[in-house]
Amino acid sequence: MSSQREFDEFSITEEVINTFRNCGNPRLQQVMTVLVQKLHEAVREVELTQAEWEFAIGFLTRTGQICDERRQEFILLSDTLGISMLVDAINNRAPAESTQSTVQGPFHVQATPPAELGANIDTLPGGGEPMWVDVNILDLEGRPIVGAEVDVWHSDENGFYDVQYGADAELTRRARFVTGGDGRVYFWSSLPAKYPIPDDGPVGQMLEAVGRHPFRPAHLHFWVRVAGYKPLVTHIFVRESDYLDSDAVFGVKDSLIDDFPRHAPGTAPDGRVMETPYRTLNWDFRLPRLDQLPKAA
Ligand code: BEZ
Ligand code: FE
Repeated sequence: MSSQREFDEFSITEEVINTFRNCGNPRLQQVMTVLVQKLHEAVREVELTQAEWEFAIGFLTRTGQICDERRQEFILLSDTLGISMLVDAINNRAPAESTQSTVQGPFHVQATPPAELGANIDTLPGGGEPMWVDVNILDLEGRPIVGAEVDVWHSDENGFYDVQYGADAELTRRARFVTGGDGRVYFWSSLPAKYPIPDDGPVGQMLEAVGRHPFRPAHLHFWVRVAGYKPLVTHIFVRESDYLDSDAVFGVKDSLIDDFPRHAPGTAPDGRVMETPYRTLNWDFRLPRLDQLPKAA
């Protein structure tokens, strides 16, 4: 008797899912089952042609081939398809008073240099407007959090991060601070600009093919970490920037936009006398304690 199995375009889905029945890892089994169900559904719904299947395989192959230690095209693909923000939303449910999170992006570096409070972290100043940043790291009751590590990074006035200037480029416009008893972090830097995400690879081709631009609105990145509290990865966006309503990676949230007001030359908040106009950012970050997080369903 023949042991041959024969499937049609509908029964094949159940058949594939059945092959996961001996998977020893229930979570993996769940993920694989749902993935196969949805992928098969999509292929059936659009009636994928052989040529389109080949194009998709080629696209994914090129996406992998362009990745190296400095470039992660798969994360960019996830970002531009809204998957990164979806994962972020699911994994960062927090009480309403908490500061909202957003994507981390590819430009954070592990070797972020420590800096003194009050320092100018733009050590290669170009033409960007000076910017005084003064933020508080608070708990949900409004009390300062002591000993929080605060990483900051942002683009220059041309929309480039330091690491985009080459392998030997000096790290700048990034720093790691630690809060003292007042929970405050304050420093000088320069106003960041809007910029395109790296668009010279498969993701850029995809954006162009579907009629999308690659730009992100101007923003500062913050990553706040302290024992006992939910870590916070977020940005603060510049209200006057283009692309707040069409961020290429869907990272904008209304609650994370600030005016970055411009001030006439004169004495800045830290007593420094400014001969040119300058910007300020004042912001309160609110982090929930781990015991204040909603219980997983
Ligand atoms: C960023 O903000 O640095 C970023 C986020 C997602 C993709 C590319 C860049
Ligand atoms: Fe960024």
